[in-house]
Amino acid sequence: MTKAAAVLSAFILSVLMCVTAFAEPYVDTGILKLVNFAHRISADYVPEMVRFEDTSYYLNEEAAASLSRMLDDMEKELGHAPFVVSTYRSYERQEQVYNRDVNSAVENGVDIADAIKGTSRYIALPGASEHQTALAIDLSNDGSLEENFIESEAGVWIRENCHRYGFVVRYPKEKEVYTQIGYEPWHIRYLGQPFSDILFENDWCLEEFIAHMKRNRYMVWEDGENIWTMYFTENPGAVYDSNTMVSDTNSGGYIVTTRRSGESLISVVDGAAKTRKDMRIRLYAMNCANMAAGAEDEQAE
Ligand code: DAL
Ligand code: ZN
Repeated sequence: MTKAAAVLSAFILSVLMCVTAFAEPYVDTGILKLVNFAHRISADYVPEMVRFEDTSYYLNEEAAASLSRMLDDMEKELGHAPFVVSTYRSYERQEQVYNRDVNSAVENGVDIADAIKGTSRYIALPGASEHQTALAIDLSNDGSLEENFIESEAGVWIRENCHRYGFVVRYPKEKEVYTQIGYEPWHIRYLGQPFSDILFENDWCLEEFIAHMKRNRYMVWEDGENIWTMYFTENPGAVYDSNTMVSDTNSGGYIVTTRRSGESLISVVDGAAKTRKDMRIRLYAMNCANMAAGAEDEQAE
């Protein structure tokens, strides 16, 4: 990292971590929780939830509001929107779904080891399903959950646009090596902004994003309106201002994210940057320097 980039990084970090008279102790939003085979959640983990519209489905409040907006917009744009077929599932419910699928395969003559392998490719073990976080949703045009969802207008729209509403298609075809789950074009996961845009633009799955943050510790993201600074820490033992959010990653650390409007950062961070364009160039250079430093670290390992 160049000296200028290091100074700028340090300054932004100090802004990020500033303790003000109005600051509140952090609240873990849980929005970046990684839940998979290797990173499970306990059987008694029950998140806060709200009812989704007037259905019997339950979701994280922010995810529910965003899903409503997205389905309304699909209705307007496509003339139709897919159905919600699954949202929050308790640990016990996931256990039932998993066991039912294994048992059904065995009843059809499949060897138990193959039945478990086949089931595990599409149904997570209890404790390893992000449906238990109330942040995951399954969508369908006709009630079925099939790969051909991606051949429908709704499937393509979801793949291209759900990030604008804070969602990601969580199990892309080419990411099975990281997710350990087969292709599920129907399963979306709420992450909110800026994370859904970051994953979409970088073509990362959640495992890759969290690995990137662990490796590089720090990232800046500019989305036209805001500049987001993120860092990975094992110990978020601080108080933050109201623009900062903290989420446990469920994988050995937290991601602390601060949102600033482009204008406010230009005025406080860098007297030499007179325009948003200047600032964007400075931030881009800093990000590149951080990534290069991360790549050097990797080579050194
Ligand atoms: N179908 C996803 C992987 C789940 O069971 O959570
Ligand atoms: Zn699902």
